Amino acid sequence: MKRRQFLTLSGSSVAAVLLSRCASNNSTQARPSPTVISSQGGLLDLDLEALSINTTLSGRQFRLLGYNDRIPGPVLQAKPGDTVRVRFTNRIGQPTNLHYHGLHVPPTGNADNVFLKIPSGETLTYEFTLPENHPAGLFWYHPHYHGYVADQVFGGLAGVFIVRGELDEIPEIKAATEHVLLLKDYDPDAGRIGSRARTGMMGAHMAQMRGREGAVVTVNGEIQPTFNLPAGGLLRLRLLNASSSRFYRLSLEEHPFYLIATDGGAIPEPVELRELLLSPGERAEVLVRGDREPGQYRLLNLPYDRGGMGMMGGMMGRGPRGGMMGRGPRGSANATETLATVTYHGQTDVLPLPKTLIPVETLPEPTQTRRFLLNHGMNPGRGMVFLINGRAFDHQRIDTTVGLNTVEEWELVNTGVMDHPFHLHTNHFQITSVNGTPPPYRAWKDTVLVPFGQSVRIRIPFRDFVGKTVYHCHILDHEDLGMMGMLAIQDEVAIVK
Ligand code: C2O
Ligand code: CU
Ligand code: CU
Repeated sequence: MKRRQFLTLSGSSVAAVLLSRCASNNSTQARPSPTVISSQGGLLDLDLEALSINTTLSGRQFRLLGYNDRIPGPVLQAKPGDTVRVRFTNRIGQPTNLHYHGLHVPPTGNADNVFLKIPSGETLTYEFTLPENHPAGLFWYHPHYHGYVADQVFGGLAGVFIVRGELDEIPEIKAATEHVLLLKDYDPDAGRIGSRARTGMMGAHMAQMRGREGAVVTVNGEIQPTFNLPAGGLLRLRLLNASSSRFYRLSLEEHPFYLIATDGGAIPEPVELRELLLSPGERAEVLVRGDREPGQYRLLNLPYDRGGMGMMGGMMGRGPRGGMMGRGPRGSANATETLATVTYHGQTDVLPLPKTLIPVETLPEPTQTRRFLLNHGMNPGRGMVFLINGRAFDHQRIDTTVGLNTVEEWELVNTGVMDHPFHLHTNHFQITSVNGTPPPYRAWKDTVLVPFGQSVRIRIPFRDFVGKTVYHCHILDHEDLGMMGMLAIQDEVAIVK
């Protein structure tokens, strides 16, 4: 893999970029396929620029936001123990910053600090080191400046961050053909800063209530790309839901997926699945075996009802189950969408699946249990607000204080009418139960779906890093509208005093 590929643009392509910027009103023409930028000699070193980009999707002009001249941004790749240095420049006309979603690194200083504000026109250098024992897996980066997150991610800003390690060395996985699939929807004017006003206040409120979904859905910025499964081979699909609100209930036309990794890396052994639900922010890695007749199989996004559509009906006293706790009315789910095609080339001597992967530790009993109620409310003059334990986010208030080197269990209860994917920064967790039932396998997560009317328990070890960090709903409109809390991780000594 070539290092800092985008920095080695030839003079003529730099000129071409400048030309297209002039020609298209100060924005760049996008190149759809992602570049990979890998660490070299223990250092991942790059320049990253957030800027406005014009692109064509489905024959329509889109004005979006991208990193460098790409939508999605370049794939960044590092190993445990590597230092990451990103010279980040903001050119989008409003404040932004970067968050490294799922990385276990400090939440403070110039590391994964989401409280930093980078005004437009300014550059900031992020620098941190991945711990030696950081899990291998699929992580990602996106803006996290509170109040602007949904606008900017919906506008197009997102990219993949891969940590290579133990999982990648398992022989069967090494032999697989690997593809990263960044799933993301776009809207033609989503990158026009401040364009929300043009949809009208009511339209904006309605869209923000459930979270905005775009007109086209893409894989790596492309519409319905094709992936090849070599004869007898194994395909490793590394899936990321980078949409600000859209859910993906994935199926390969009933062909089994073998789950090998979740948000925080490998699971203990492959788990066979017929379909896979990814809520915003979640990742999953699956193997697909080339043991079918040669042909084309569609990767589908099946209908899923994430709630919220019944809310307006319920408020107006309409619909059979439109009450505040009911499922949405019939037809509130999305229609089936085709995301991509997988071409099978044959079925002779199919490569075996790995029998085991990487053990996931059993966490000790928690020293503390807490409860988080997820719901929404009306704020006079501001419209809908989204709340955790009845409160909207306030950057000056610490909501939860935990001790370093402790293990806690959190009960997440969704008392609202729509699903909320709950995300925690800095430390990974394990799901211990969903509505009282333990999950079928152990896994490390950083984002978990809490469907409406349901409750999920998670167990979290707070390790390695102290400081202020956050947890929030990963439907980013909900996060911007208040569904975020501040977590302080303190040294035990500080807590005792
Ligand atoms: Cu991907 Cu705090 O977010
Ligand atoms: Cu995150
Ligand atoms: Cu939410």
